Order: sequence, then structure tokens, then C-alpha cells
Amino acid sequence: MIKVAVIGSSGRMGRALIEAMHVDSDTQLTATVVRQGSKLVGQDLGQLFGIGVTGVLAVDNILNVINDFDLVIDFTSPQSSMELLAICQEHQKKMVIGTTGFSKEQLLQIAYGANDIAIVSAPNMSLGINLCLNLLATTTKAIGANTDIEILDLHHNKKVDSPSGTAVQMGKVIAKAAGRKLDDCAVYKRHGIIGARGDKEIGFATVRAGDIVGEHTVFFAGNGERVEISHKASSRMTFAHGAVAAVKWLADKNTGLFDMQDVLGLADNMPHA
Ligand SMILES: NC(=O)c1ccc[n+]([C@@H]2O[C@H](COP(=O)([O-])OP(=O)(O)OC[C@H]3O[C@@H](n4cnc5c(N)ncnc54)[C@H](OP(=O)(O)O)[C@@H]3O)[C@@H](O)[C@H]2O)c1
Repeated sequence: MIKVAVIGSSGRMGRALIEAMHVDSDTQLTATVVRQGSKLVGQDLGQLFGIGVTGVLAVDNILNVINDFDLVIDFTSPQSSMELLAICQEHQKKMVIGTTGFSKEQLLQIAYGANDIAIVSAPNMSLGINLCLNLLATTTKAIGANTDIEILDLHHNKKVDSPSGTAVQMGKVIAKAAGRKLDDCAVYKRHGIIGARGDKEIGFATVRAGDIVGEHTVFFAGNGERVEISHKASSRMTFAHGAVAAVKWLADKNTGLFDMQDVLGLADNMPHA
């Protein structure tokens, strides 16, 4: 049985993770970590959130429970995830990182950390999105040179990063499959008289509204037709189930940086971003 600590366990994803693990027989929730000074310290969050008694009482310092788990699932913030990475390296704990919005330097630090511990990091843990990434690579190779490619992401009004981590990942996969560098062709905003669209651009557009869980559409628009590859998440449980699948997949890994393409066995078909 893999013993798991959930970090950020009172957040939207934290609750979904507690729920997903409550019904999973291969993993055991053994620690829940909340922000320092949180009034939830000492509470059984499963019971509090109406999921069920877990027998695990929340702590605000992971070091107090450091011997209770083998792996952490982290859906928090980039700053919190980087602090956690250092602790996990020092104490040899595996990580499943779902947090988004990392800088390039932070992504490099995660890759470096994977020399010491095994990490699955993915800005979107859903099976459907990861299948879409595969379809995007195939579609780009087939028609990318003759179409305008635009990426649209819709999320709830509490999301702090834009474009979404998933939209950026889609852009990276498309750019790689098209033989372009995303940094050279990405267009993140358009305003005013900006002139005609460049044919190599990969455009990003963002909607933030209401309680939208997460929707992504990639347009491949040509002359007389367009292809749209679209994914709509209707529940956070899809990300939580993906994270739990990543936990199990990491069981026999000691070091290395992996993503959901590896977990789902799709990596061979993909140009890695
Ligand atoms: N990879 C995926 O599939 C996927 C899916 C959904 C979301 N995400 C990403 O996951 C992250 C969290 O999303 P969310 O919607 O769950 O956000 P959220 O509801 O704001 O939850 C984040 C939680 O992290 C806690 N936290 C922050 N810093 C902490 C620290 N140092 N120690 C302990 N807890 C800490 C917050 O505590 P407070 O409540 O006290 O602030 C909050 O409970 C975001 O980056 C989001 O983009 C990824």
C-alpha cells in the first residue's frame, strides 16, 4: 500500500484528492497538510468535507508527519511546490505535482530535483487531455503547415495563471510537432491595430468566468474548413483520478521526471515538449 500525503488538502483539488483516495484500495491517505496557521489543523478533513472519516488529522508543518508517507501529491502554488520539492529531495519522498504556473527556472529546478527522487509533473492530469495532446501532435503533422493554429482556454474566475498550464503544454506539443519554437511563434495578446496574422503564429486566448472547471479548444483553421480539437472537464475528479494513477505508476520508480504521457503509456507517440 502506497502511503500518500496530500498537500493543499483544503483546496479545490485537495478535496477531490481526498475523495478519490477514499475509494481507492491501492493507496492510503496518511497525511493532510494545510497552510501554516490554518484553523483546519487537527481536523479530519475527509469527515469535515462530508467525504467520510479518514482517521488522518491535518497538520500545517509537513516535517511533523515526515515519516508517515512515501509520496506527496501537491496541487498548491509554484512557491509552495518549490519549498516542498526541497523537503522531498532531502527526505527521499516521491512527488506527483499538479500545480501550474511554474517559471522556466522553476521547471528546471524540478527537472534537477528528479535526479534525487521520482516525480510526475503535469499541468493537466486528465486522461482525455492527454489523449488530446497526442491528437494535437498528429493533427499538426498532417495539416499544421496549412492552417492557422489558435488555442482557447476557459476556466473559473479564481484561476490565477493565464494562459492555463494545459494551454501552454498544448502549445509546446504543437510547436514541437510543427518544427517551431513556441517562444518564437506564440502570441499571447492582441489589441488594437496589430496587422494581419502571421502564418506561423500560435495564438492563445483566455476566458475566465464563473465556475468553469476547465475547457480547451485548439483550432486548425484553413481555407474552407477547420478542425477543432476540444476537451471539456466537468468535474475535478478527473484530475484527481489521474493523480492517483500517477501515484501507483511511480511505485517502482526511484528517480526521474515523468509526465502523464508516461503514466498512460502514450509517450512513444509523442514529440516530447
Ligand atoms: N494538473 C492538473 O490536472 C490540475 C487540475 C486542477 C488544478 N491544477 C492546479 O493546481 C493548483 C491548485 O488548484 P486549486 O484549484 O486546488 O486551488 P486552490 O483551491 O486555491 O487550492 C490550493 C490550496 O493550496 C493551499 N496552499 C497554498 N500554499 C500552501 C502551503 N505552503 N502549504 C500548504 N498548503 C498550501 C491553499 O491553502 P489556503 O486555502 O490556505 O490558501 C489551498 O488550500 C493550481 O496551480 C491549479 O492550476 C492542476
